[in-house]
Amino acid sequence: MTEATIDALFPLPAEEGIGDARIAELYSAGAEPTWLRVNFVSSIDGAATRQGLSGGLSDDADHRVFDILRRLCDVVVVGAGTVRAEGYGAMRVDEVSQRARREDGMTAHPVFAIVSASLDLDPASPIFRDAPERPIIVTTELARQDTREALAEVADVVICGEERVEPRRLVEVLVARGLTRIHCEGGPHLFGDLIAAGAVDELCLTIGSTLEGGVASRISAGAAPILPVGMRLAHVLQSGDTLLLRYVKRG
Ligand SMILES: NC(=O)c1ccc[n+]([C@@H]2O[C@H](COP(=O)([O-])OP(=O)(O)OC[C@H]3O[C@@H](n4cnc5c(N)ncnc54)[C@H](OP(=O)(O)O)[C@@H]3O)[C@@H](O)[C@H]2O)c1
Repeated sequence: MTEATIDALFPLPAEEGIGDARIAELYSAGAEPTWLRVNFVSSIDGAATRQGLSGGLSDDADHRVFDILRRLCDVVVVGAGTVRAEGYGAMRVDEVSQRARREDGMTAHPVFAIVSASLDLDPASPIFRDAPERPIIVTTELARQDTREALAEVADVVICGEERVEPRRLVEVLVARGLTRIHCEGGPHLFGDLIAAGAVDELCLTIGSTLEGGVASRISAGAAPILPVGMRLAHVLQSGDTLLLRYVKRG
């Protein structure tokens, strides 16, 4: 596969054809030791899915950045709806990323943390069976005891709320395990909860170059904060007709 060419349009001066190291540097700028980043892809008209999946909206440039963001984190957090819809397997990065992570003193692969109230997750799934790092399942006090016990055989099951996982408690639990570079790959309902709780430090948003129409959901759904959360534009990358935006919290 040929690697997508990515140019940096902002901050100025613009840079053409930047390499992975420079891309990683741009995505790391200003990040605090404890940092929660969220990554999504959307169409120009705001669709977060095509035929129920994000894959159709993505392109080589999005894949390139997606991989680099996994390279930079201690833990990848994903809502169970996305895990089920997208058919996630074990959390593994490619060999280039493994090498880069080891050179940075990190584990070869990030930890996989799945957020679920229902615990509708199969303990026999490759997510757990093939996991290089023991996954974490983040759930609530209302989760069924027998399901919790079955999943505790293959993952660390932690309670972070009564009826829903509270983002602040989720972050506390991860930080207590030394997982401070937190990377969330969605989905929309989890992102809505993170926004409402004021827990989002950064949004990386790829805007693909299609108009999807239809009834696809947005990248956030469900909960809303009392006031909209203002973000600051940190950089703009371009690859052909695709934009890769990075917004960080203000202040
Ligand atoms: N465009 C993109 O970049 C992108 C990225 C990710 C996903 N998606 C798409 O989004 C769709 C899935 O949307 P979704 O909103 O269902 O995704 P989601 O937020 O990943 O899943 C919702 C489910 O996650 C769990 N969950 C989320 N927040 C929770 C909380 N605070 N406490 C407890 N459980 C929580 C619950 O699981 P339980 O039901 O197990 O209780 C909930 O039903 C898929 O079509 C996927 O392809 C698109």
